[in-house]
Amino acid sequence: MSFTKRINALQPSATMAVIEAAARLRAQGVDVISFGAGEPDFDTPKHIVEAANKALADGKTRYTPGSGTQSLKQAIADKLKKDNGLDYQANQIVVSNGGKHSLFNIMMTLFEAGDEVLVLTPYWVTYPEVVKLSGAEPVYVETHEADHFQVSKEQLLAGVTERTKGMIINTPSNPSGAVLNRDSLQAIVDVAVENDIWIISDECYEALVYDGEHISLASFEQAYDKTITVQTMSKAFAMTGWRIGYAATVPELASAMGKFQGQATGCPNSIAQYASEAALRTEPLFLADWRNQFIQRRNYMIEALNQMAGVTCIMPEGAFYAFPKVSALFGKKAGDIQIQSDTDLTKYLLDVAHITVVPGSAFGAPEHIRLSYATSMEAIKTGLARFAEAVHKLK
Ligand SMILES: Cc1ncc(COP(=O)(O)O)c(C=O)c1O
Repeated sequence: MSFTKRINALQPSATMAVIEAAARLRAQGVDVISFGAGEPDFDTPKHIVEAANKALADGKTRYTPGSGTQSLKQAIADKLKKDNGLDYQANQIVVSNGGKHSLFNIMMTLFEAGDEVLVLTPYWVTYPEVVKLSGAEPVYVETHEADHFQVSKEQLLAGVTERTKGMIINTPSNPSGAVLNRDSLQAIVDVAVENDIWIISDECYEALVYDGEHISLASFEQAYDKTITVQTMSKAFAMTGWRIGYAATVPELASAMGKFQGQATGCPNSIAQYASEAALRTEPLFLADWRNQFIQRRNYMIEALNQMAGVTCIMPEGAFYAFPKVSALFGKKAGDIQIQSDTDLTKYLLDVAHITVVPGSAFGAPEHIRLSYATSMEAIKTGLARFAEAVHKLK
């Protein structure tokens, strides 16, 4: 069977591959602990579920406007003002089937063959793929652990050519957990404004910042007209399966993205939209508890990782991932098994320690692996003890 070049160039999701490998082992009765999760392990809060039940009972089961209901867009505009200090009107917002879908809408509306889009490494696995799907080419800008994954004007400019049309920025970051500081954000704004580049600002983890401060790129006055703010209900409200995300930008672009979405999917799920509205209109009292749990798990995990010989990990300031550097283990052996790369180590940890992690090469950073701490403290303690034991066996 033959498929399009577009599909042939698409990389399957590395996180999915890890999940499938773990499922195969579990089917054999092995107790596998997963550090692969990209979603909170908490349940969607009750009042949000109740709002969905009510929407169903009230018959809110029909198509909505393609870019979302007016009342949800207004709730989003109010949230962006309250939490982020951003002035958006309802006609500047496109509600979609998740943040990932928002990114896809943006790429399909703004970029095409011949264009280049800057992607900072380490990057979320989806960014290069959605850029490629639009026909444009991802151009990688490396950031470094030694700088806590901050970025300078010089680093960005090294990737800029006359074909550069956009850059994707993610703070807090998946996979590194880094939160971009004001200097990095100013560098991004300066480069974007001076070179007429769109900023796609993926702020999906904004509610999960533990140290430092989350600053929205669109809050820089010069950048407002060049920025698309991308958000999701997935992480802060534990609503990954509900599939609601949104983008906010200048009206003309929002309208073009709405036109694309209207033809591509019709509209986002009506019931999930009413539930999202209730989520945004209610004070998120549960969040303080979730954040505390994430902080405790993070602190435990980072300390445990740093105690392993050959593993080092800086403190992530946000999201729910640890991104340790493991390259000092490359070249080591346990019996016949030799570890030469992040993927070898991932396989070794699954086979020997029965834990799943994601290899850093999936994020453009092959010296690292990613562990999610969106799992119970008990699983973290047991899984990291097994990890330490497996590392200890490497000589
Ligand atoms: C950095 C980043 N952006 C966006 C998303 C999109 O999430 P969703 O499509 O569930 O809104 C994710 C999910 O893992 C993510 O990690």
